[in-house]
Amino acid sequence: MTAEVFHHAVQGQLLALPAREAESVGERVRSLHQEVMRAVPQVDRIACALYDPQADTLRTFVDSTQHGAGLQAYECPLGDSPSLLRLKELRQTRVLQDIPASVQGQSHHSRWLREQGFLSSYTVPLFHQGEFEGVLFFDSAAPAAFTPEVTQRLDVYARMVGLMVSHEIAAVRALVGSMRIAQDFARLRDVETGGHLERMSRVARFIAGVLAPARGLSDEFVEQVFLFAPLHDIGKIGVPDSLLAKPGRFTDEERLAMQAHVALGVQMVERLVEGFGLGQLSGVTVLRHIVACHHERMDGRGYPAGLAGESIPLEARIVAVADVLDALVSPRAYKEPWPVAAALDELDRMAAEGHLDPACVAPVRPHEAQLRAILLRFSD
Ligand SMILES: [Fe+2]
Ligand SMILES: [Fe+2]
Repeated sequence: MTAEVFHHAVQGQLLALPAREAESVGERVRSLHQEVMRAVPQVDRIACALYDPQADTLRTFVDSTQHGAGLQAYECPLGDSPSLLRLKELRQTRVLQDIPASVQGQSHHSRWLREQGFLSSYTVPLFHQGEFEGVLFFDSAAPAAFTPEVTQRLDVYARMVGLMVSHEIAAVRALVGSMRIAQDFARLRDVETGGHLERMSRVARFIAGVLAPARGLSDEFVEQVFLFAPLHDIGKIGVPDSLLAKPGRFTDEERLAMQAHVALGVQMVERLVEGFGLGQLSGVTVLRHIVACHHERMDGRGYPAGLAGESIPLEARIVAVADVLDALVSPRAYKEPWPVAAALDELDRMAAEGHLDPACVAPVRPHEAQLRAILLRFSD
């Protein structure tokens, strides 16, 4: 198939992207919460935080809260909470029967817990194949709600939520892992290093996190952007090495062959999703969008489909900004790394000219320090 045929094939595929979305973990936990409340009515909140072993932090992931506001878009070092650290080390559950008396800390989550009026809680560590995966919280507005009899009943549900989360995460890891292995085999890392993927996915998560409150993006969505961003260029596996490493300008034909990486990527995603039986994985749509649309432009002059503005999925607009930012500040075969300040100016320029989404570029400059820290921490 020639590059041109690919180009048209992907255009057709993109327009036919399935609109149906599998139920997210958040939705499933919310339905389970209804069931839990029939058995144990005093459980007002069920939430799950995920453990990030690289950063040694806990991050909010799903939250089902009956009354008041849930805790979202929050991340804190596990060590900040000695009692949660004990949960992980000793593999024990924790019961707080009197939150106002026992939770005195001034951290954001301690204050939040008191402000919401929760009086007692039951916390269960989640392990999957021996690895600490996160923490599950049951909170109640009633005092001393978690008697031994209640916690025994809740343990069944805790196991169910744990399985839902582990299953989803294991499926995502299998998908991402197999694609990263394919990237290694294709020696794509010579062109785009592991560091690039690590940095751009963290920058993408950061931007998504800043946009989340105003746009009502869930923690689960932000996490999916992070997990799937490294796969944006998976289709480059099918592009000849000589072209990937070419330092000079492309001929028209070479440009089309290069642009075909998007169509190839979409095909790979479809095949893998089918091969792994991952149709039910809720993040698959986010993955498809990132792979298919990360070269679209706001003004409609991008490829392969020429989508414009809001018709480009938000996750792809975010990934485009993160990808460009890291490409600018990294050395490539054909250029020296740019200083961060110059890269920020370039992002603004690209937003002004209709390439990148100004809304996704906007969070970058005010958070320059945090972004620099990400770029530095994962430098090659
Ligand atoms: Fe790309
Ligand atoms: Fe990239």
